[in-house]
Amino acid sequence: MTELVHTRKELAAARDGMKGTVGVVMTMGALHSGHETLLRAAREQADHVIVTIFVNPLQFGPNEDFDRYPRTLDGDLEVCRRAGADVVFAPSVAEMYPDGQPRVRVNPGQLGEDLEGQSRPGFFHGVLTVVLKLLQLTRPDLAFFGEKDYQQLTLVRRMARDLDVPVAVVGVPTVREPDGLALSSRNRYLSAPERQAALSLSAALRAGVAAAKQGRDAGAVLAAAHRAFDSGTPGAQLDYLVLTDPDLEPGPVTGPARLLIAAWVGTTRLIDNAAIQLAPQS
Ligand code: PAF
Repeated sequence: MTELVHTRKELAAARDGMKGTVGVVMTMGALHSGHETLLRAAREQADHVIVTIFVNPLQFGPNEDFDRYPRTLDGDLEVCRRAGADVVFAPSVAEMYPDGQPRVRVNPGQLGEDLEGQSRPGFFHGVLTVVLKLLQLTRPDLAFFGEKDYQQLTLVRRMARDLDVPVAVVGVPTVREPDGLALSSRNRYLSAPERQAALSLSAALRAGVAAAKQGRDAGAVLAAAHRAFDSGTPGAQLDYLVLTDPDLEPGPVTGPARLLIAAWVGTTRLIDNAAIQLAPQS
């Protein structure tokens, strides 16, 4: 049985009744099979699963899609039930931020200013602030985040380490459509031609992975990814395509690495990434 709660008080009562380990999956709703995979991972690894559904205004810029972000609670509850969640916490904005916008926020440091942070100033302050609040409210042993939002996952891991938050952060691999498109709640904004153009992102990542498997160096891997992006269906506007250290630390990239891409397709911003193993160069 999945219990739906809306207030901190109800959540605290449900949480207090949980014996054994607790896993949390934080979401903004509009749940798809990618989220379901997160929920199933949580179900397998923890005794109890809490799902949070909250479209966090703090992480949307003034010209972003906060108002039009899909809100589909009934469908979301169905997904949560199917995946065996124990509790769904779906608070209102006033419940989460009873004093209005919080004056104190988590500062993600330089990593929050790079990549997504360049195009979305303040985004990771908003994300980490709500993630920390939800961690305090749900008190989980394990917190599951998708690798699709790789910079977010990296920053949540860093926050837990740097601020001594007692939780194990678990990364869950990205779920893709058969043609390679990474699942995202924002895919539903795409028209049919835009969806076709969106395939350029995963095509770029595949080309980078293939080049690395052929023993090519970092420059050649990146060049192969750029070529694949450029030869995809027109309509995707590249924001960034970078090859970095797996922890997104600055410096030269050797051995395990991460290829990250962001692009606009029409008015929709999409991101994706893949693990890369660079061969040692002689
Ligand atoms: O990945 C998301 O859906 C959001 O950024 C999160 C982690 C739920 C915080 O609002």
